[in-house]
Amino acid sequence: MQLPYGASLSHKRRYDVDYQVVWDDAHTRAAHRLEGKVAVITGGAGGIGESTARLFSKHGAKVIIADIRDDLGKSVCMDLGPETASFVHCDVSIESDVENAIATAVDKYGKLDIMVNNAAISDPPKANILDNDKAEFERVISVNLTGVFLGTKHAARAMIPSGSGSIINLGSVSSSVGGVASHAYTSSKHAVVGLTRNVAAEVGRHGIRVNCLSPYFILTPLTKEFFKIDENAGVRVYSNLDGVSLQEEDVAKAALYLGSDESKYISGQNLAVDGGFTTINPAFGLFARA
Ligand SMILES: NC(=O)c1ccc[n+]([C@@H]2O[C@H](COP(=O)([O-])OP(=O)(O)OC[C@H]3O[C@@H](n4cnc5c(N)ncnc54)[C@H](O)[C@@H]3O)[C@@H](O)[C@H]2O)c1
Repeated sequence: MQLPYGASLSHKRRYDVDYQVVWDDAHTRAAHRLEGKVAVITGGAGGIGESTARLFSKHGAKVIIADIRDDLGKSVCMDLGPETASFVHCDVSIESDVENAIATAVDKYGKLDIMVNNAAISDPPKANILDNDKAEFERVISVNLTGVFLGTKHAARAMIPSGSGSIINLGSVSSSVGGVASHAYTSSKHAVVGLTRNVAAEVGRHGIRVNCLSPYFILTPLTKEFFKIDENAGVRVYSNLDGVSLQEEDVAKAALYLGSDESKYISGQNLAVDGGFTTINPAFGLFARA
């Protein structure tokens, strides 16, 4: 460490100690960006939700995983430690389940700071709308949209008394462009952005922020099932960004930002984690490459 001009050796020792304290403090704060916060994460038993639960707990948050896959969800919580993480069985399309998941957070920790509405499903891919049936369409909407509505409603109820909170809804590139996924999935993800904006307009007066997080393609059970991808066969997916591929942890890091106080003035946004996929049309023009 270089000393300021004119400092003596005793100054140096003092300076080194002070510097170390400041550095340690800053380092600890940086390492625990969610210290003292309580989060509910739907669909946290696997995929992006699990990665988010792991990252949130690493940053000091208490985490409630709300999912329908009990064994997987419990094993993630076991791994994170019982003082940090708990599992609640919750089907996000059932209001009493969602209410119970949020009540668990409030009963256990006295508050809710972050709600991650992450759980979603896809329907079997059918390229012709004539083959799409109403029941299948409504099943996707009930989880991907009604589930987000219920999570948002009950999270807001818990957050209003404390006058703060961050609600993070998982969208997709299918929240802003057509042609990537099924009609039901695309409709649900577009609607999640609308819901995000509308609720952000309402609950801002209570200090609650509501944002959407929209990733590009990551190989998870959801996408494997939809795109019928065998991961051993090697996956070739168009990307605008060469040399990097999107991982679950990248989405979790964006959720960490939206959940933390670093994003304290960000609300009503749809944060795309897609390498520019939804803002660039590479089909024709100066930079055409598709
Ligand atoms: N993987 C991708 O490429 C991708 C891209 C864009 C957006 N997304 C979005 O990210 C989110 C997470 O997706 P993922 O790829 O990690 O999926 P995933 O299938 O790996 O995980 C989804 C989780 O949700 C749970 N779940 C399903 N139905 C539920 C219900 N009714 N109630 C409670 N939990 C339920 C599942 O058990 C699972 O643990 C979803 O909202 C998805 O639409 C994913």
